[in-house]
Amino acid sequence: MKQNRKKRLFIKTYGCQMNVYDSARMADVLAPLGYAPADSPRGADMVILNTCHIREKASEKVFSELGRLRAFKEERRAAGGEMVLAVAGCVAQAEGDEILRRAPQVDLVFGPQTYHRLPEMVVRAARAGGHLDIDFPVESKFDHLPEESADPGAAAFLSIQEGCDKFCSFCVVPYTRGAEFSRPVAAVLAEARRLAAAGAQEITLLGQNVNAYHGEAADGGTWGLGRLLRAVAEIEGVTRLRYTTSHPRDMDDALIAAHGEDPKVMPYLHLPVQSGSDRVLAAMNRQHSADDYLRIVDRLRLARPDIALSSDFIVGFPGETDADFAATLRLVTEVGYAQAYSFKYSPRPGTPAAVEADQVPEEVKTERLAALQQLLGAQAMAFNRACVGKTLPVLLERPGRKAGQLVGRSPYMQSVHVPVSSVGQGRLTGALLDVAIEGATANSLSGRLVMAEDLIAEDRRASKAVAAAVDSLAEGPAQAPASARISA
Ligand code: SAH
Ligand code: SF4
Ligand code: F3S
Repeated sequence: MKQNRKKRLFIKTYGCQMNVYDSARMADVLAPLGYAPADSPRGADMVILNTCHIREKASEKVFSELGRLRAFKEERRAAGGEMVLAVAGCVAQAEGDEILRRAPQVDLVFGPQTYHRLPEMVVRAARAGGHLDIDFPVESKFDHLPEESADPGAAAFLSIQEGCDKFCSFCVVPYTRGAEFSRPVAAVLAEARRLAAAGAQEITLLGQNVNAYHGEAADGGTWGLGRLLRAVAEIEGVTRLRYTTSHPRDMDDALIAAHGEDPKVMPYLHLPVQSGSDRVLAAMNRQHSADDYLRIVDRLRLARPDIALSSDFIVGFPGETDADFAATLRLVTEVGYAQAYSFKYSPRPGTPAAVEADQVPEEVKTERLAALQQLLGAQAMAFNRACVGKTLPVLLERPGRKAGQLVGRSPYMQSVHVPVSSVGQGRLTGALLDVAIEGATANSLSGRLVMAEDLIAEDRRASKAVAAAVDSLAEGPAQAPASARISA
């Protein structure tokens, strides 16, 4: 299709990293139609809201954003232009009809499994208003996506698994993302090779239940995540591997062993437990006990003593008593988390827990959330403080909010802020460098480039020469040094 003018595309992403990945792929699908990324929805030719349905607040945000976008759409029309307004993602899947009814300014609604058909949908939407595409198609969207075109950056996401068959009683994901599906090994490795060739050093394998991965391999066998990680680690240019989100039931021996044996598998794991009470875990249909979880943590720490753990928690699940909540606090104390996310239980339409009689009052949820967050916050602070004085390898990903700063991640997923010269800023982005950690908050670390500091000491007066030297660091080999590990 020939285009004489670049069209402007604005995508706003809510929710999990799967949505972040999907948004990037939507941009890839639309690029051949002449759509290029825009910084603002104002004046854009197409705006896509890639939505999340996980909690009530998340879905309500979509309707308030649609109100704001309606004004931009009218403004554009008054100027003689058109703005296609699309709602994608999990709210689209769960509440497609409701969106078209409540927000007639929306031209297009499509679910997470159908966006490979976007070009055809855009054409149809131009002809008739309010088009809905939320089927779970038989063919996989992954087979119909173009190769990713955008610069992946130093740290890239790669979706390897979608959907969920676990049906936790509080969760909408099995309904919005459909049944579990693993991409074949060859497709994953091919995408990982392209990402590495385009400059991605760190790859995070994504899935709603990423460790339930069971991909078909070329030899006719089935690979689990442990084996897949080792194969991705062998790809030239890949220096760091992560995966998210995992379910405790699928932490098998091969995966735990990969943490101990492959240094490219980063010493950080997000392993949601939701609650420390066996009664609540059973009612949630998590299919494991608090003790099962603690034993997995033991095995992980045996394999990789410095592994940093993170989790999700829900407080105020229907029927949760003070004693149940106390069990959650005990589990948190026992594990010691580096980081965590905690939420008030939010009843979701269509899920079994939403219709339970014994819903917990809002003020009790508020109290429990505050108590849990205080404990988790103190643990995060302690973990970060323990890093001060250590040297950690940091993959510098992007400019910081303040001028003269780059932000990257430590092996333990902490954000690390580093001052750099204006010359260094451009050239050091994407480098994996040693940082001496000097400061810590509950959310991030700050420090100095070890190599740059030496150079500065050598030649304080010739700041131009220093800038050039710092600059040239970006060209050197970037390997994780042995100092990466925090000694216990
Ligand atoms: N697949 C992951 C989690 C996906 S959803 C897992 O099984 O752990 C991300 C997190 O949102 C969940 O871990 C849970 O803590 C939270 N969450 C999901 N549904 C929720 C609800 N109805 N109310 C509050 N929090 C919820
Ligand atoms: Fe939701 Fe449970 Fe599936 Fe996670 S495992 S996506 S919480 S149903
Ligand atoms: Fe939200 Fe859908 Fe992800 S509901 S958390 S965007 S899978």
